[in-house]
Amino acid sequence: MSIHTPKIDKKVTLNTIAAMKGNEPITMVTAYDALFAKLFDKEVEMILVGDSLNMSFMGKPDTLSATMDQMIYHTQAVCNGAKSSLVVLDMPFGSCLTEEEALRNATRVYRETDAQAVKIEGGKERASIIKALTQNSIAVLGHIGLMPQFVRSEGGYKIRGKDAEDILSLVEDAKALEAAGAFAIVIEGVKSEAAQAVTKAVSIPTIGIGAGNSTDGQVLVWSDMFGFFEAFKPKFVKEYFEGAAAIRQGIEAYREDVKSRKFPSEAYQY
Ligand code: KIV
Repeated sequence: MSIHTPKIDKKVTLNTIAAMKGNEPITMVTAYDALFAKLFDKEVEMILVGDSLNMSFMGKPDTLSATMDQMIYHTQAVCNGAKSSLVVLDMPFGSCLTEEEALRNATRVYRETDAQAVKIEGGKERASIIKALTQNSIAVLGHIGLMPQFVRSEGGYKIRGKDAEDILSLVEDAKALEAAGAFAIVIEGVKSEAAQAVTKAVSIPTIGIGAGNSTDGQVLVWSDMFGFFEAFKPKFVKEYFEGAAAIRQGIEAYREDVKSRKFPSEAYQY
């Protein structure tokens, strides 16, 4: 049985997201351009211009070489397509190492794009940087658990929250981000019971990715969920469309048509 939930009919704000905790699951996907942002707009409350674009669209092995200029360019494109969903720009690796740098870079986001918030990876150790932004009227979405920007220093992508000590550490991270003024927190790659403990411990919404079904919302990377990214397929990704197969079929048909001079037939000529 398919359930049809109403589409989003007005501009999503930070207040909309705050009010959803404990009431209605929050939907979020990534987008990197206007074309797809327009398709996702009104369907999901939030669109994340994730630095994952460095892997899926730039073809790099990790997110670390994404730059502020790149993120701003893609966010401008997404904002051209998304008029209702709340757009968040993912601050790239190395853009928020000090309060001054974070303020300078995040100010650029508000000046040069229509994004309503920025996302910053990091737990309690980043709380003072996040506070510097929120105290200067820049909305911040936190990101804890498995943090892709830490892949080299951690020696890989490691699932978190496997024991009581680590669950406590994640809860402390979340509380520190809430106290710093974050409006919500992404929890990535953690055991479901850890995400549940974090979600219960804070009064701001949690958005899970590979974090089970107890968080206040879910986020997926669009090129994963629509079957375009084939380099690897994480266990938590549900594929809603066989994108790569569909495109291959289309490009093969085009190639055959051109080679056999079936295209352009008269219908496609002036
Ligand atoms: O960059 C990204 O797409 C992200 C999501 C995985 C949350 O940070």
